[in-house]
Amino acid sequence: MAIRTKFTEVFGVEHPIAQGGMQWVGRAELVAAVANAGALGFITALTQPTPADLANEIAKTRDLTDKPFGVNLTILPSINPPPYDEYRQVIVDSGIKIVETAGSNPAPHLPMFHDNGIKVLHKCTSVRHAVKAQSLGVDGISIDGFECAGHPGEDDVPGLVLIPAAANQIEIPMIASGGFGDARGLVAALALGADGINMGTRFMCTVESCIHQNVKEAIVAGDERGTELIFRPLRNTARVASNTVSREVVQILNDGGQFEDVKDLVAGVRGRKVFDDGDLDAGIWTVGTVMGLINDIPTCGELVSRIVTEAEELITNRLAGMVEVKAGSVA
Ligand SMILES: Cc1cc2nc3c(=O)[nH]c(=O)nc-3n(C[C@H](O)[C@H](O)[C@H](O)COP(=O)(O)O)c2cc1C
Repeated sequence: MAIRTKFTEVFGVEHPIAQGGMQWVGRAELVAAVANAGALGFITALTQPTPADLANEIAKTRDLTDKPFGVNLTILPSINPPPYDEYRQVIVDSGIKIVETAGSNPAPHLPMFHDNGIKVLHKCTSVRHAVKAQSLGVDGISIDGFECAGHPGEDDVPGLVLIPAAANQIEIPMIASGGFGDARGLVAALALGADGINMGTRFMCTVESCIHQNVKEAIVAGDERGTELIFRPLRNTARVASNTVSREVVQILNDGGQFEDVKDLVAGVRGRKVFDDGDLDAGIWTVGTVMGLINDIPTCGELVSRIVTEAEELITNRLAGMVEVKAGSVA
């Protein structure tokens, strides 16, 4: 048995499951393990310090899998922007065929990707941005609900409404993102009109994810209330783990502080220390509310096969078993 959707067909992947870009986490070992499990993994371009490092990471991933995988290009407004054009060139030159864009309008990058036969999956957090991306010609949408790790946007619409609202207007393949971690989520997403799911936090807590074991164990121990929304007053909200640092950031900004006042607390180097050294209070680290559904640290292969097998079982037995065929009606 297999679950076939518009997403699996268009993106040429076995299962309707993706692993979205994750800063510091989306590296070769994880992406290759996801690919080998039959799902679609994305290397996070900007985790690599230079475009040349990205080329090496892509080559390293190819050594670990012969299945398709993609690259995430997160485009964020910044005072000193990374050399996006050079990262994009590396993606093209490396023969990558799928890119996940996120963060802002993908328009400037689309012609080059499409001219080189690259499919673009655009991740966004609102129906209006999904509709806009569809009109620009992207090949798929990943619609990220309020539950998600990272940037949920400012509209605060959870997946239960966001996914069907987007499905009403999206005709290209669309996967649902934010809060997914198991078969129940996959089946729910399909029922809500999506063609699959994208998971960040769940893949972060697997054997092949290269972060410190302490972080994985904290995710297993944590529950669905274990996150904070930082940068709310700055309208650049990010969902991160609740710890002494994130709570301080929330407090300072709620008291009228500005970005300058929290800049050192939220520095990327501090967040990276969490993942590298396992010191959970060293800085800000990204995680989603789905933490409340995560109780183990499986391999990516175990995780994907469990989700797909249980989803098939849910659809064919539990849900099908609820449908009562009345006597005299045509089954
Ligand atoms: C540690 C971490 C880092 C992330 N970094 C990025 C990023 O750099 N770019 C991006 O587009 N999304 C990023 N995300 C968001 C994920 O790709 C995905 O959209 C999100 O995790 C989905 O929500 P979930 O965690 O509930 O599955 C990150 C998520 C996590 C957990």
